[in-house]
Amino acid sequence: MSGGPGQGAVSNVAAPVTALIVAAGSGQRLGAGVPKALVPVGGRPMYQWSLAACLAAKLIDRVVIAVPPGGAEAFGDVDAELVDGGASRSESVAAGLEKVTTELVLVHDAARPLVTPELIDAAVEELEGDPASDAVTAAAPVIDTIKRVGPDGVVRETLDRSELRSIQTPQVFRTEALRRAIAEGDVENATDDAFLIESAGGRVTVLNAPATNIKVTVPSDIELATLLLEAATNSSNPL
Ligand code: CTP
Ligand code: MG
Repeated sequence: MSGGPGQGAVSNVAAPVTALIVAAGSGQRLGAGVPKALVPVGGRPMYQWSLAACLAAKLIDRVVIAVPPGGAEAFGDVDAELVDGGASRSESVAAGLEKVTTELVLVHDAARPLVTPELIDAAVEELEGDPASDAVTAAAPVIDTIKRVGPDGVVRETLDRSELRSIQTPQVFRTEALRRAIAEGDVENATDDAFLIESAGGRVTVLNAPATNIKVTVPSDIELATLLLEAATNSSNPL
């Protein structure tokens, strides 16, 4: 960039950001008999892909991982602080937040091993550059036609696809806003943390992300994630 000394210095001095990887779930739908974060995918325990992406991201200073209560040992000696998670995803986020001292926090599911350092940095940059927002979430455009269907199996309406997004993690938050939203929100019904910010009247913006940033949920997702990880590792082109 051109300009005299100091020009652009403010925007170049990014505030430190903590990444919180939630890995405390049991993985009931995967049914592997061990916590989902420890299930191998692409030759490594699943959580290691997200950890490596966070550690490689330029804008992440430190990583906290919420692990199954009492199960830290199985995660080995990692470059992150491990904390016991809780019975629900929101409780795991709340437990992890107790270790966060930075103004911004990035929350990511260990179940999304396809995340990249580029997506992590882009999500942080998006919130840093948007003082009016409380959170930014990665999201992919919806490709399928989505219809609302009644209990009788009859279509009620076809939704306007251009307004729909499939929500992913990473999600980046102003830490205090997330703490407040969890303390006051309907955590039992929250499938993501951005929902709690929305419910509290906060502003959440979306960042377009690749549909390949899938969440491993059911057994067939393991094969799909393995193929996608192989493709990403073997190609210099981002997926
Ligand atoms: N998670 C967590 N603590 C919980 C529940 C979920 O940290 N008590 C984490 C999971 O480890 C996962 C992410 O939240 O990385 C998304 O949750 P999900 O895909 O639902 O994982 P599980 O809850 O483990 O799976 P299932 O719902 O099939 O049991
Ligand atoms: Mg779950």
